[in-house]
Amino acid sequence: MPASRYAETHAAAARDPESFWLDAARAIAWDRMPERAFDRAQGPYGRWFPDGRLNACYNAIDRHADSDRRDQVAIIHDSPVTGTKRTITYGALRDEVATLAAVLADLGVGKGDRVVIYMPMVPEAMVGMLACARLGAVHSVVFGGFAANELAKRIEDAQPKVVLAASCGIEPNRVVAYKPLLDAAIAASAHKPSACLIFQRPQCRADLDPARDHDWAGTMEAARAAGKHAGCVSMAATDPLYVLYTSGTTGKPKGVVRDTGGYLVALAWSMPNLYGVAPGETYFCASDIGWVVGHCYIVYAPLLHGCTTVLYEGKPVGTPDAGAFWRVLEEHKVVCLFTAPTALRAIKKEDPQGELVGRHDLSAFRSLFLAGERADPDSVAWAERVLDRPVIDHWWQTETGWPIAGNPVGLGLLPVKRGSTCVPMPGYDVRVLDEGGKEVPAGTMGTIAIRLPLPPGCLPTLWGSDERMRESYLTTFPGYYDTSDAGIIDEDGYITVLGRTDDIINVAGHRLSTGGMEAVLSAHPDVAECAVIGIRDALKGEVPCGFVVLKARVSRDPAEIERELVAKVREEIGPVAAFKLALTVPRLPKTRSGKILRATMKRIADDEPWTMPATIDDASVLEEIGDSLRTRGIGG
Ligand code: COA
Ligand code: AMP
Repeated sequence: MPASRYAETHAAAARDPESFWLDAARAIAWDRMPERAFDRAQGPYGRWFPDGRLNACYNAIDRHADSDRRDQVAIIHDSPVTGTKRTITYGALRDEVATLAAVLADLGVGKGDRVVIYMPMVPEAMVGMLACARLGAVHSVVFGGFAANELAKRIEDAQPKVVLAASCGIEPNRVVAYKPLLDAAIAASAHKPSACLIFQRPQCRADLDPARDHDWAGTMEAARAAGKHAGCVSMAATDPLYVLYTSGTTGKPKGVVRDTGGYLVALAWSMPNLYGVAPGETYFCASDIGWVVGHCYIVYAPLLHGCTTVLYEGKPVGTPDAGAFWRVLEEHKVVCLFTAPTALRAIKKEDPQGELVGRHDLSAFRSLFLAGERADPDSVAWAERVLDRPVIDHWWQTETGWPIAGNPVGLGLLPVKRGSTCVPMPGYDVRVLDEGGKEVPAGTMGTIAIRLPLPPGCLPTLWGSDERMRESYLTTFPGYYDTSDAGIIDEDGYITVLGRTDDIINVAGHRLSTGGMEAVLSAHPDVAECAVIGIRDALKGEVPCGFVVLKARVSRDPAEIERELVAKVREEIGPVAAFKLALTVPRLPKTRSGKILRATMKRIADDEPWTMPATIDDASVLEEIGDSLRTRGIGG
């Protein structure tokens, strides 16, 4: 194995970040090449490429469409749920995007305006994102598994001029009508978009309101007939490209802002150096465009790098079987697959011997990357065995926009330590701190923090609130970004991420706030108080479990109330919360100062050793929690 260039690369970025990032910036086409990499004086901690100008859509599409890549496939839409496949070349993609951008401009969208996108995994969703980027409008994609209420919160915060939506999404067990959810969200939001452009899918057509809704296909057809095309608007590198909402510790999601220049530079660096992928090759990220991973590695990074990207509308299992990913790898000659550990666990459960792998020619395939949640060593070992390729766990947050840590295949693979996310990427100075903010010795667990400044690509701020940015991330440990992840750095500098330090849980690679679920449960008229914890799940990593104490006067059947609570979380947060377990208990365990002992409850549910907290008010309550869990077959 040739020596990895990782150590010298990371050291170079630490020693002279200006030169390192200005050099990395050469991978991007600029309208005005930046002369400075970083300006400490701007924003909550500084801004990248303060004097650069560029357009993200130009970088992702036009420069390839104007080159010999014109006829190369840019997007492969592989959709087992509809039984369709479609390819779009860079040249055709430019036409589509420029036409949609002209349509958006006609609807009044211009530089800096927000556009919410509520769409499933169809190419039109990508076309929508890129059309916004073309105009300098700020897109905000909302994952289809969220309910109307969550969509409403995002519409209210982002204040979009226009919403792009599809009539429906398709889950293996049902067609999800999006339009009624969109209508309910707009009705619930104080902000009303002036127009909605609706992409009708044959599986479920939506009723359009002539006062606000426009039919996507018809509007596009008219724009094409009129020869309408919008050009790329030159943007400051520091201008926002998108806002992506993610769960915070309250029910109010955080609008993570992504800038334009720093983001593209970081993504462009990552493709050859971390993922080891070359222009022209096919990259398959099996996430959803509603998540950060989808934004970065389905849409922007592969296109920036001149790759072919696979947009997969299906599941790892059941569409039709656990060989679906391997079929995609073979059929599209994929070199790199990026998915979540939960998907691997689902595949492993159905095909433990990996027999379906052997039915496919994976000769083009080189490496598997995992992220979104902790990759358990068993699943990593299984994947290494059945695929006979490097399996790389890498660590991410919506906030960072590209991996914080990973094993840089392109620079030369480092030894894999299963269970660890390997080493920090250039520009990330990662430390583990104790509660007082002091660095702990190697091998000791603490909160993982990143010394400021964050590298290009990471969030410069939260939408509309520098103050919330400071409060959420920069004040706990002055001089650092608090990741809210706990973990360890070992003597070789390898980072292991163990779990969140806040109330966020990770369900099938999806980030969810237990605080948000508690808000839904507490609003039920029969609930006096409640606590939601994430409990261990063999497939999804964690699933939420809600404990509720009913009001004294309530005489209804608790089982009926529990069913109502499950339905309420699904209705108000969405099916993605996977909230299926509500337990009525007589009391909640608390400290003498009234704090609910969630960590101890979790240990009981996970059947892990636990000690009686010294501060507990009434020790017998924990027995009751254990008993009620056991009635559902949970815990020891
Ligand atoms: N629109 C509407 N509903 C959606 C949805 C969408 N885009 N995505 C998921 N849902 C629904 C599902 O239908 C399911 O509903 P149900 O309760 O009626 O069954 C619910 O939300 C939970 O979905 P999911 O978490 O996908 O669970 P699942 O049991 O259907 O599938 C896995 C399990 C492991 C196959 C699946 O979770 C998976 O592929 N995970 C990978 C996640 C991932 O890639 N994350 C990105 C991070 S990198
Ligand atoms: P999201 O913002 O949805 O990408 O979720 C980010 C959170 O997911 C992180 O703060 C971690 O808790 C978790 N996470 C992501 N990737 C990993 C990983 N490779 N190992 C462990 N946890 C991870």
